[in-house]
Amino acid sequence: MKPIQVGLLGAGTVGGGVFTVLQRNHEEIERRAGRGIEIAVVADLDQERAAQIVQNRAKIVTDAYQVINDPTVEVVIELIGGYGIAKTLVLAAIAAGKHVVTANKALIAVHGNEIFAAAREKGVIVAFEAAVAGGIPIIKALREGLTANRIEWIAGIINGTTNFILSEMRDKGLDFEVVLKEAQRLGYAEADPTFDIEGIDAAHKASIMSAIAFGVPVQFDKAHVEGITNLAAIDIKYAEELGYRIKLLGITKRTPDGIELRVHPTLIPKDRLIANVEGAMNAVQVFGDAVGTTLYYGKGAGSEPTASAVIADLVDVVRYQSVPADKRVPYLAFQEDKVINTVV
Ligand code: HSE
Repeated sequence: MKPIQVGLLGAGTVGGGVFTVLQRNHEEIERRAGRGIEIAVVADLDQERAAQIVQNRAKIVTDAYQVINDPTVEVVIELIGGYGIAKTLVLAAIAAGKHVVTANKALIAVHGNEIFAAAREKGVIVAFEAAVAGGIPIIKALREGLTANRIEWIAGIINGTTNFILSEMRDKGLDFEVVLKEAQRLGYAEADPTFDIEGIDAAHKASIMSAIAFGVPVQFDKAHVEGITNLAAIDIKYAEELGYRIKLLGITKRTPDGIELRVHPTLIPKDRLIANVEGAMNAVQVFGDAVGTTLYYGKGAGSEPTASAVIADLVDVVRYQSVPADKRVPYLAFQEDKVINTVV
């Protein structure tokens, strides 16, 4: 069978990782998917950058619509980021009957409900494993591995930049601004670091996990969001002396009054596993009624870790495609529920 033809929007670091991993592990990936996966066409305004990433492995165009309207393309990967043009292009791809794989947490958190509704209407998938905690397969854990459970709560370190900043401030006694610059230099931070340090990026990710875990619409607008900008080195030092680490946690929880959704710095006893997650790493704890507490740890960003999640979604698309249309189980199913934001 001919490999599934994929179009890529945005040839950056993650796009490069997708090419590399698909090439390196093509035998395993094809065996697991039951069909080969081939990136046929890539759209990016920066032709030079795209040429470096693509290295003659696909056609390069500047117009994203050439990807979306290409009749041979069955899946579109969106790696542009942000809510602007990415939203227009994702909706256009869905309207053209393409499945979409995206790493764009801001887009899913803010416009996910509209995008999922459009996808349901067209019978296509919008998959976003890479949008939450990068290489950690947390969306699949929630949708598949823990599917037998009633999830009670999720608490996670889901922003590597802020975790790196808090670790460095504690270990090296450095000031916030100095460490932020270092995080930006290392490529952890968002283009606008406000999203990281004000907790917005973590709230995007927490609201996506909340929707999947509790089967509710994505409700980022209801989240309580507090970042790390008010923390001083002295707070971290005193917390240490009292036996605690300060971590920026994204928390979502079932309560009798609705679903809690919040991001804020949290004191965690030093002997807990999650308190010892250092640097730019991510970790997510999930409590399910059958399984108890589970913990997922790994790289929340970076070229190949994020590509790992993008390709897992491509494999999902191939598997979904192989089921006759009238036998497919809906990819996502939400019910209405109340989201509240309570700070405790
Ligand atoms: N800026 C994000 C972080 C990148 O620091 O975790 C991955 O979403």
